[in-house]
Amino acid sequence: MKNIPVIMIIFGGSGDLAHRKLYPSLFNLYEQGLIHDNFAVIGTARRPWSHEYLREQVSDAIHETHDQVDENEVKAFASHFYYQSHDVTNVEHYVTLKKLAQELDDRYSAQGNCLFYMAMAPRFFGTIATHINDQHLTGSGFNRIVVEKPFGHDLVSAEQLNKEITASFDENDIFRIDHYLGKEMIQNIMPMRFTNPLIKNIWSGEYIKNIQITLAERLGVEARGGYYDTSGALRDMVQNHIFQIITLLAVPEPKDLSSDSVHQAKQELLKSLIIPTPEEVKKNFVRGQYLGSDTTFAYKKEPNVDPDSTTETYVAGKTKFTSGPIAGVPIYFRTGKEFKEKKTRIDIVLKHINNPYGQAHSNNITIEVDPESKIYITINGKKIDEPGIRREDLTYAFSKEEMAKVPDGYERLLHDVFVNDSTNFTHWSELKRYWEFIDAVEDAWQKENEAGNPEIAQYLPYRMGPKEADNIFESPTEHWIYE
Ligand code: BG6
Repeated sequence: MKNIPVIMIIFGGSGDLAHRKLYPSLFNLYEQGLIHDNFAVIGTARRPWSHEYLREQVSDAIHETHDQVDENEVKAFASHFYYQSHDVTNVEHYVTLKKLAQELDDRYSAQGNCLFYMAMAPRFFGTIATHINDQHLTGSGFNRIVVEKPFGHDLVSAEQLNKEITASFDENDIFRIDHYLGKEMIQNIMPMRFTNPLIKNIWSGEYIKNIQITLAERLGVEARGGYYDTSGALRDMVQNHIFQIITLLAVPEPKDLSSDSVHQAKQELLKSLIIPTPEEVKKNFVRGQYLGSDTTFAYKKEPNVDPDSTTETYVAGKTKFTSGPIAGVPIYFRTGKEFKEKKTRIDIVLKHINNPYGQAHSNNITIEVDPESKIYITINGKKIDEPGIRREDLTYAFSKEEMAKVPDGYERLLHDVFVNDSTNFTHWSELKRYWEFIDAVEDAWQKENEAGNPEIAQYLPYRMGPKEADNIFESPTEHWIYE
């Protein structure tokens, strides 16, 4: 692998994301030689850490995520890390940061290449972007920026943030990260759709009855009540992860696999995304909040959550496109905290075809993303000892050996940033369209809240979410496949 010269500045260098994901992923890329002699990382955050302390943290992060490591390698890797205590609103701190980045650029011959990573609370993204521009932090080589989610809170704030970032970076150099796009099975959607004639040729409203996407989580909001109460499931999961999945399922075949062609195909498709009216929101969407149990809090009693909160911990909804291969096919989705189990899956429900056997059950193609990586397709055969049709699943599951080879999503996406491949990142025009959809739903809900009659279903924890979500289907012959 290429040894990429670069100085990386992580805003949020003492945080959880850096510790759990970024440092271990960077170590793996270092081991592969993608970054090696000519890189340095500056971790910044408010805490008064030293270079040495950050290096210890980096080393701990690697030990926590790797079974066996060569201690000399860990030490050599950690020696590339530097820390600067930083108040994101203080101009002087950016001046010092710039100086340190220049020194390291000389020391490591990083050729003026800079990578900025926004890994701190999103409310600071705009301020940091503005200072990067005002204090001229960009280098003389490539300048790229990775922005964590949420990118804005609604369309207006996303546009504002985008303006602040584009003051210093071209669209091609902005990597809006969504870790779902780094997941193995999500990256499998396009090859699965486009390479098998059996699948490719049935990918249309003629054969697909509906598509169902479930992102279920066992955990509640945990320590993130403060953030979550200003966000909710729609912004936290649908605006990004679910819409990325929907887009991959509905996108027409791109002319080739270059980042430009893939984004072009997605953008063409998204023009035809139907934005719901308030009446459609009322009819096709369900929002809910989890109740408490003997051992767990109800959402409204969670720390840092408003006791009168109308924020949803669950949402189910429907969408459609007017163009593309599955134009007109209903796409149902749901996501929620405190579900029965952690499960991320996509069910493609095929239409019934008339047949002489009178077989009436649905045939599905299912992609399981988490916790297992599997694809299964229903096939039918005759029953052995009585008349009738039996149903079996043809399953492809990754073996343990294969799974062991699958890199963590962050490692994969960081790799892509280093090699300048933005295929699996969100383009601004895609993000903008997602926000238009989300804003339409949020506005309708807000009006209901203001009218004093919000319909917020209360659901029992560790089951399947509110039963109201069973009523969002267009026809009585449709139902959730994963129950
Ligand atoms: C994050 C959300 O983007 O995704 C979290 O902010 C959620 O609330 C998480 O728990 C789920 O990710 P994964 O990979 O565990 O499905």
